Amino acid sequence: MHVRILGSGAGGGVPQWNCGCRNCADARSGCAAVEPRTQTSVAVSADGERWFLVGASPDVRQQLAAFDRLGPPPGRLRGTRIAGCILTDGELDTTLGLLSLREGQRFPIHATPAVRGFLERDFPITRILARWCERPFVDLPIDSRAPLIGSDGAPSGLSVRAFGLGKRVPLYVEDGIPRTGARVGLIIEDARTRGRLVHAVGVAARSPELELAVEDADVLLFDGTFWSEDELAACGGPKMTASRMEHWPVGGPHGSLAWLATLPVRRRIYVHVNNTNPMLRVGSGERAQVEQHGVLVARDGDDLEVT
Ligand code: MLT
Ligand code: ZN
Ligand code: MN
Repeated sequence: MHVRILGSGAGGGVPQWNCGCRNCADARSGCAAVEPRTQTSVAVSADGERWFLVGASPDVRQQLAAFDRLGPPPGRLRGTRIAGCILTDGELDTTLGLLSLREGQRFPIHATPAVRGFLERDFPITRILARWCERPFVDLPIDSRAPLIGSDGAPSGLSVRAFGLGKRVPLYVEDGIPRTGARVGLIIEDARTRGRLVHAVGVAARSPELELAVEDADVLLFDGTFWSEDELAACGGPKMTASRMEHWPVGGPHGSLAWLATLPVRRRIYVHVNNTNPMLRVGSGERAQVEQHGVLVARDGDDLEVT
């Protein structure tokens, strides 16, 4: 399975245009230690021809421009090699890119019933998109495996199983009531090579579902939003803790790094790294800690082979 990290940042993008934190200020001024990142989105493919987007970020245009394999198939002037989009939640940061992808051929949106509900009722982008393009929903089952079918109707060589990560609903959902299936992780498997990718962003906490999911993973893309619980408020942002936002912090004795360090997964990579996270900075003590445990911080444009 081929994997392209189209974007590895979080929040309003790294650097944020209006943020005065040290990371943002340095990234804006071109300091090499803090590399700009677009918002997290990943493309996966078994055959290198049919690609599934995991999330469609607000930065999708820039991300597609940097990765021409999602453009028209060889020998054709028009079209896309995007075979579908898999949504792990209904956040604006995961779905806004769908509005930019309104041109062109049909491809389905794979989503849990909860996320589908948000996008049909609270933020009805699929109804709006229907004026431009065909974006049918395909049910993303939780705790059972389903083949990923290409937009041509043929099996793509990949299958997916979703598992629960959290219940936080997007701010635009009026009732705000937490729901099962609002935030899910994915286990994507290549039928031929048995290579397994686990995608877990929006992790509320360590859980039995998560432990089970990572058991046979070859590559783990994991929630690297915050280093510490109160980081956002400390940087002058909203007074929301990492846990309340369902982003298990990386650092500290109970952080995700201490857990990732114990896993036998060959490649463990942080994605969805917020601008405030000190591990973004090359040469920082936090980055050194991550790397000492054999874990990486993703960069935009990273390519991985999962076998
Ligand atoms: C998240 O990852 O939790 C969301 O994208 C944050 C948000 O935009 O509210
Ligand atoms: Zn900042
Ligand atoms: Mn996000």
